Amino acid sequence: MRAYGEPIIEITHLQKSFGDNAVLTDFNLTVRQGENVVVLGKSGCGKSVLIKCIVGLIKYDAGSIKLFGKEVSSLKQHELDTMRARIGFVFQSSALYDSMTVRENLEFPLRRHGKKKSKEEVQQLIEETLEHVGLAHAIHLMPAELSGGMRKRIGLARSLVLKPELMLYDEPTTGLDPITAEEISKLMLAMQQMYNTSSIIISHDMHCAELTANRLVVMMDGIDYAQGTFEELQQLNDPKVHAFFLNHK
Ligand SMILES: Nc1ncnc2c1ncn2[C@@H]1O[C@H](COP(=O)(O)OP(=O)(O)OP(=O)(O)O)[C@@H](O)[C@H]1O
Ligand SMILES: [Mg+2]
Repeated sequence: MRAYGEPIIEITHLQKSFGDNAVLTDFNLTVRQGENVVVLGKSGCGKSVLIKCIVGLIKYDAGSIKLFGKEVSSLKQHELDTMRARIGFVFQSSALYDSMTVRENLEFPLRRHGKKKSKEEVQQLIEETLEHVGLAHAIHLMPAELSGGMRKRIGLARSLVLKPELMLYDEPTTGLDPITAEEISKLMLAMQQMYNTSSIIISHDMHCAELTANRLVVMMDGIDYAQGTFEELQQLNDPKVHAFFLNHK
């Protein structure tokens, strides 16, 4: 297996409950630089909660999350903001700004988080990023004029324009046809290779997982039930893990 860099995220004994609902009970995961980790788990098991804990949107009850070497729960608001500028977050819904053109959607994070750049530099960065996701021609369109797959690509481009060190994808291919889903998966892989980013990818799409994952973790009953490469998990003689691979040829 390829050797990866230093740990970008180190999660140990993570616990999170909502009232009586114990969602995460003892979750452990390390993601190293340049590594893509896919999180599998059935609906409602806590995958989105995990991602929200990592970026400090939800406070965890116990355990530790070290992000770029710092404990998330002890960060002050401005430190959290600085940290978030290093992270690209692709929401399931794409969450584009409907009243802005594609160009303005990409300009927005640059103005908010990016280092000061000239107009020309901004323009060039936007064009280059749109080129990477194969949508250079869509620069003047409004989100309403885009198809679902195009929206996903623009959502991806908007995160990538800041050249994040860490990408968090929450179900990036859900709701897409298999061909577009595969294109998006390949794009995620190309981005990892181009920028040497680390990623956590939440997905039910086993084809996406197979294409993008260097390692997978199965979340079950609040713990990291199984971890390994796609082949390792596929060959595990465990019906609970095998269930994820049932419809996968
Ligand atoms: N802000 C919240 N307040 C209370 N309960 C919450 C909150 N966010 C999530 N939960 C609960 O935590 C559990 C895990 O939710 P989560 O959204 O992480 O599931 P998931 O694994 O992402 O599911 P899916 O695959 O359907 O997206 C659910 O029982 C949910 O009701
Ligand atoms: Mg979710």
